[in-house]
Formats: sequence, structure tokens, C-alpha cells
Amino acid sequence: MKKVGVAILGMGVVGGGTYKILKEHRELYQKSYKVDLTVEVVLERDRSKALALGIEEDRIAANIQEICSNPDVDIVVEVMGGVEPAKTFVLDCLRAGKSVVTSNKELFCKYSHELEAVAKKNHCGLFYEASCVGGVPVIRSLLDNLQGNNILSMMGIINGTTNYILTKMAEEGAAYEDVLKEAQRLGYAEANPAADVEGYDATYKLSILSSLAFHTKIPYTKIYREGITNISVADIEYGKKFGYVLKLLAIGKNGENGIEVRVHPSFIKSSHPLASVGDSYNAVYITGDCVEDVMLYGRGAGALPTGSAIVGDIIYCATHTNYQYSTFKNTEEAAQSTKFVENFESAYYIRLNATDRTGVLAKVSSIFAKCKISVAQMLQERGPVGEDGATPVIFITHVTRENNIKKAVQLINESEEVAKVAAVIRVVS
Ligand code: HSE
Repeated sequence: MKKVGVAILGMGVVGGGTYKILKEHRELYQKSYKVDLTVEVVLERDRSKALALGIEEDRIAANIQEICSNPDVDIVVEVMGGVEPAKTFVLDCLRAGKSVVTSNKELFCKYSHELEAVAKKNHCGLFYEASCVGGVPVIRSLLDNLQGNNILSMMGIINGTTNYILTKMAEEGAAYEDVLKEAQRLGYAEANPAADVEGYDATYKLSILSSLAFHTKIPYTKIYREGITNISVADIEYGKKFGYVLKLLAIGKNGENGIEVRVHPSFIKSSHPLASVGDSYNAVYITGDCVEDVMLYGRGAGALPTGSAIVGDIIYCATHTNYQYSTFKNTEEAAQSTKFVENFESAYYIRLNATDRTGVLAKVSSIFAKCKISVAQMLQERGPVGEDGATPVIFITHVTRENNIKKAVQLINESEEVAKVAAVIRVVS
């Protein structure tokens, strides 16, 4: 039986889940894959976390060098999160000839070029299934099962915290701040929720996934990002009247004019499969030229779901000798030949707080016409029910360009006759 020693860096939620799975499934893996996977050593500053999991004192390393020089360690699992010291530790392990499995999306998104170069040079594996969408096997699907396709687009709900918040706002009519507090109390949202609610977490994941899907480096800095902090219950409710559900979507498209990558709140039709992905669940909807539409759905976070992705990588690493690396030149910047679409096309939801008097609609219509925006649907509330006694007027536009909308918003806000643009939300058409 092949013996494979594992080290785990970080014994928090995911480290603990990984340890538990490896311990409880050891015999299953021996029988099924003919490998004996054992956790030889862990690295955790707070020793009590490791001890609480039943790990013996002498298996808690004092520093990363103890792991690098341990001949019984073949694979190192990095589940610390953040860039440093995780980056230094991962590089040290790769240079020492250890293969690495990581769940660290920020590290992999920002430094995969550096990590991969060192992994290749030292003939080590570098695996990162758990970095995107937790237990949902999207990375291996892109690398292996879908590789026969030209991937045309992907659309995902890839952040569980924001999906939980938007779901609760929609179901309970509760305000953003109240639901955020509830999410923090339940442990979904961090004390500092910025990475999730401002869309950074989804942006890191989309950078990794779209690079794999489109076979070219998509730096996260090229991704348009907008979080959910300005979303009001009023817009979720008005969206429902048009048959829409609001989601924080990560969108990647590879079209004739180039690559389009963006993370922002989006209305989608309630009949779309992504609309039914609620609570903290995640899903990625991929369209390939051969397979057509595929949706992968499941838990994007949590001890055992993320541990499942990590252990899958450990078993793959332990049973393969030819490691896979990127299918594109993995550099810090995008390749010169990669074109990005910034003035992208979309339909839009626009809510105005208008003064209810003659000429207001005429003025708005003339601005829309000037900006080449065609209205598909419109709704006006009767009487001054909106903010500051204004009348809410909602438009759904036909597909137009982002810059047309920006110009129209500016002109409406500058006009005397009309109050203000209260919300602009892109609509998936
Ligand atoms: N914080 C992430 C989420 C999970 O809410 O989906 C880890 O990426």
C-alpha cells in the first residue's frame, strides 16, 4: 500500500473538516484507491484548536521548516487564508518538493503565476479545487470534463454570504443592515464583511474560473466589481413585479469582441435555474459550444463541503504522477492578445424618484432617446409613495451599452424636471 503523508497548515473550520474526513475515511481510501493517507503533522498557532481535534502534541509543528524537512510529508494542505504568511509557507513547501493543496482564493488569484512556476520547477503538484465554490467541483470540471468545449460563458452565484443576505431580504423584506447583522451572528458573514459584501471574494473566484474557462490569464484587476451594500428592499420588491430575482452574479463571457468579466448585483428571470439557488448555496452555470448548459450546485463553504474538495485534490495528487498546470501562459498580467470588453451590453432596471407632474416622462424619454436607450417595460406607482415624497418610476430597458446608461443617469440627475436616479441594476436578458 502506498503511504502518503499529509501536513495541514491552519486548523480552523476547513482544516478541522479536512482532518476529520481524512481520519474517518482512511479505510475507504485504502480500499478504493490503495493509498494510506495519514495526517503526519499540523501547523497552528493556537495549539488548543489542534488539541481539541484529538491531534497529539508531538504532531503540532513549531514552524514551517519542521514540515518542509519532514521526509514523511508528501502533500501540504494550506487552509490558512490571506496572502501572508500563507504565500511564504506554500513557496517554502514547494521548494522542499512537497505538493500543495490550497483553498486560498486570494493567494491563488493574485499569485498563481508565481506558485505555479515554483511547483513546475520542483516537479510538484499544485491543486486548488477548494479555492472556488467550496465543495462544488467546478475547477476539475473545467480542467477535465468540459475540456472538449469552447466555453462561451459562465454565470455564477459564487459567494454564499451575499446570497444568504439577498435571499433573506427578498423573503422577509428585511433591510440590508439587519440581515447582515443576522448573518454575522450565524457565522456566515465575517466581523469585517467587506470581502464578501463588496464583491472581492467573488472577484478572486471569477478570476480563477474565467482564466481556466477561457484559457488566458484574467487578472482580478480586469474584473468590473460592484457589491451589494447599496441594494434596497424596495428594488428587490419592484424586481419581483417584473418577474425577477436579485442575485450577486459573477459573469464571464468570451465573445467576438473579447472577454467580458464582471461581478455585480443582477436581476434574473425567476424561471432561470440560478434564481432558485437560495440561502448560502452556490451554483455555476456554464455554457459550452458542445455540452450546451451545465449547472453545478452545492455548498460553497463549510468544514465538510470545503474539506471534500481538499480531500479530492489530495487523493488526485496521491494517485497521479503527471501533474496538471494551467492551459495558458500563467503570468501576472493578461496576455497582450487578450481583449477585454469594458463598455458591455446589458438590459437595465432603472428606478427614478420623480416629481409627479406634466413633462417628467417626456423629459426622461427624450434623454433615453438621446442615449440610444429603448424602454421595454415601465411601472409608475400611484402617488408620492417613494423616498422624500417622490413618485417611484421604474424602467426596464432593452439591451443597450453600459456607457449609454451612465450618460443617461448623468443627464437625468442634472435635469431640473426630474428628481434623482435612485437605483440602476443590470438585468440578465
Ligand atoms: N466567504 C465565502 C462565501 C466562502 O461567503 O461564499 C469562502 O469563499
